[in-house]
Amino acid sequence: MGWNSWNRFACDIDERLIRETADAMVRSGMRNAGYRYVNIDDCWMAKDRDAQGRLQPDAKRFPHGIKALADYVHSRGLRLGIYSSAGTYTCQHYPASLDHEAIDARTFAAWGVDYLKYDNCYDQGRPAIPRYTAMANALRATGRPIVFSICEWGRNMPWVWGSVVGGQLWRTTGDIEDDWRSVMAILDRQAGLTYFSGPGEWNDPDMLEVGNGGMTDAEYRAHFSLWALLNAPLIAGNDLRSMSDSTRAILTNREVIAVDQDWGGRQGRRVRRDGSTEVWAKPMSGGGAAVVLLNRGDSAADISVTPRELGLAAQQRYQARDLWRHITALVGDSVGATVPPHGSAMLLVRATRRQR
Ligand code: GLA
Repeated sequence: MGWNSWNRFACDIDERLIRETADAMVRSGMRNAGYRYVNIDDCWMAKDRDAQGRLQPDAKRFPHGIKALADYVHSRGLRLGIYSSAGTYTCQHYPASLDHEAIDARTFAAWGVDYLKYDNCYDQGRPAIPRYTAMANALRATGRPIVFSICEWGRNMPWVWGSVVGGQLWRTTGDIEDDWRSVMAILDRQAGLTYFSGPGEWNDPDMLEVGNGGMTDAEYRAHFSLWALLNAPLIAGNDLRSMSDSTRAILTNREVIAVDQDWGGRQGRRVRRDGSTEVWAKPMSGGGAAVVLLNRGDSAADISVTPRELGLAAQQRYQARDLWRHITALVGDSVGATVPPHGSAMLLVRATRRQR
C-alpha cells in the first residue's frame, strides 16, 4: 500500500511534492490505515548520467538529492519508491537502466530506496524475462530489501514468471485512466488470473484513480472495493495534500482494506455475470467470503448471490456485514442489495455460529 506520483502529477513532480505527500500521508490517517510507500514515478532524473555513470536526479526539481528525500520519508515512518525502465529510456525519454542494472541498483540502495517500479519502454526489442531478471538480480545483490514492481503491462504474461524472476508485483494491463470505462476494461482482464497471486507475489491491475475527479464517488468506491477484492496493491494516485473528506473516507475504509490485506487462499474471482451485473468474491481466512456486487449498467439493479455460490457451508443463517455502511444483518439463503448504476455493494458473509 502506498502512493505514486504518476496518475495525478505525471512529470510535474519535485522534492517538495514528495515531502508534502509524506506529511499528508501521516496527517490524513493514511499511514495509520496501512499506506507505507511514497513512490516517485517517471521524470525524476536528469537527462544525463554523472561522470561515474550513475543516474542523478534533476538538479532543479530535486536539489537536495534522493538520499535526503529518503531520509525525510523514513523519518515519517514511511518508505521511498523510485522508478526506472528496462529499456534505454524511460517512457518520458529520461535515461533508464537496460544494461546499467548493477550500477543503478547500487545507486538506489545507496540512496535508501525501498521500492523500484520498473517500466517497459524502449526495450530495444529484447525479450522481457532476461531484462527483468537482470534488475531483480542486481537489486538482490545490493543486500538491501527493495520491492521489485514489474511494469511490463501484461504483454508477456508476467503473472507466470514475475515471481520466479524475483518480482513482488506485476502489472497485468496497460495504463489505467480516470474513468469508469478504463476501470471496467482492466477488471475484465483480471478474470482468470486468480491463481497467479499469493503472499508476496501479486497481480497489479494498476494504481488507484480514487479522488482524481473523473469518476463519481460511487464509481470510486466500486474501483476501490474491486481492487481490494483482487488483493491488489493499493497505490493511491491522487493529491493527498488536498483530498476531500469523501476521498479520504474511501481510501481509509478499514474494513475494505482488511479484505485487501487478508490472504484467504486466493485473490477474488468473478463468480457470476448476468448482463451488466456481476458478482465477485474471495474467501477470507476467517472462513467467510468477501463479496462485491457490481452494477456496470446505467440504472439501479437488485443483485443477489447464494452462500452456496460463495462456497460457504450450508447453514440456516448467515451474517452479512456491509463494508461501506458498516452495518451487519442476518440473512438466509440469499444475500443481496439494490446497487446504484456504475456502483457496487461490498459485503462480508459469514456463517453464524451453529445453534446448540
Ligand atoms: C508507463 C507506465 C505508467 C507510468 C508511465 C510513466 O506508461 O505504465 O504507469 O509509469 O509509463 O511515463
